[in-house]
Amino acid sequence: MKAVVLKKLGDFASLTDETVPDLKVTPDAILVKTHAVAVDPIDIKIGSGSRGGSAPMILGSSVAGEVIAVGRNVHDFKVGDRVAANVRGGETYAEEVLVPARLAAHIPDDVSYASAVSVVLGGQTGYSGIVRGLQVKAGQNVLVQGGAGSVGLMAVQTALDAGAKVSATAHGWGLDFLREKFPQVTAFDYKTDDITANGAIYDAVYDTVGSEKVLADSFAATKADGHVLSIVARSHRDPRFVHFFNQPTGATVQTLLDGLSSGRFMAVVDSELPLSADNVRLDYERLQNGGVHGKLVLTM
Ligand SMILES: NC(=O)c1ccc[n+]([C@@H]2O[C@H](COP(=O)([O-])OP(=O)(O)OC[C@H]3O[C@@H](n4cnc5c(N)ncnc54)[C@H](OP(=O)(O)O)[C@@H]3O)[C@@H](O)[C@H]2O)c1
Repeated sequence: MKAVVLKKLGDFASLTDETVPDLKVTPDAILVKTHAVAVDPIDIKIGSGSRGGSAPMILGSSVAGEVIAVGRNVHDFKVGDRVAANVRGGETYAEEVLVPARLAAHIPDDVSYASAVSVVLGGQTGYSGIVRGLQVKAGQNVLVQGGAGSVGLMAVQTALDAGAKVSATAHGWGLDFLREKFPQVTAFDYKTDDITANGAIYDAVYDTVGSEKVLADSFAATKADGHVLSIVARSHRDPRFVHFFNQPTGATVQTLLDGLSSGRFMAVVDSELPLSADNVRLDYERLQNGGVHGKLVLTM
């Protein structure tokens, strides 16, 4: 099968288009023929070598596609089903991907592969951080730092869905997007605005950025009994700090995909390019430079 292979850890110039051995399905997994993958920040972190591992390796964590084989213990999926999954470190930049069945969900007929794959990792983390991490309740004041990123956009939507009063930080395109699509959200420009300018003091802050400044500003704007959840910073001396690491499940992906179909949630795709080493490199540069307009998706 075709795959994009990273030959040398930490060197994205070494990404190449290769033919690698076909995969065989295992008892608790499904084999998926790839239609779309998302470019996730974790792929860049893994490829840079900051998470260990050794090259050559196939990067990629999100996949949407068609089931082409089913493991003998799997009963919820059949050949031909359209599915999506977050398979962290799952070697998804390839023509075929082995997906543990517990991580997969069915894509509703009216949801495209690109939309589906755009929410499985970042979106799942945004949703779960609000629902399980911060346990946001109706009427609470919630701030999402990085509200136009892939995690932040779903955190904003999930907090609104829970009935919270939502504020978010963004810049440029993201700021305009939040103001246009979610006029009920108080959107701050992270480069110029003061997040307490409207006198708000937050019950919960969802931090998707992790810098010292963003954390310090977040704690300064949070109630004494509130919480600042970060998916980037691992620890902080402030007792209101919570680190959140998303534990992917197919059930949560299903909630998001059904939400795309019903209109409960919105997917935002920046671009769809053919999956190739050149396009992975291009998207990594764009993601690292900031200012992308939604999820970067690569298709096959
Ligand atoms: N712990 C977990 O389970 C978990 C899961 C998923 C992701 N993550 C991590 O979470 C982070 C965010 O992921 P993502 O997929 O949402 O990335 P993303 O799509 O690149 O979004 C990041 C967003 O943060 C914005 N931003 C940058 N600097 C900011 C600042 N000072 N204040 C406010 N916003 C700022 C960016 O805006 P610009 O475009 O203007 O730069 C962008 O909209 C990554 O580090 C990722 O690895 C962790």
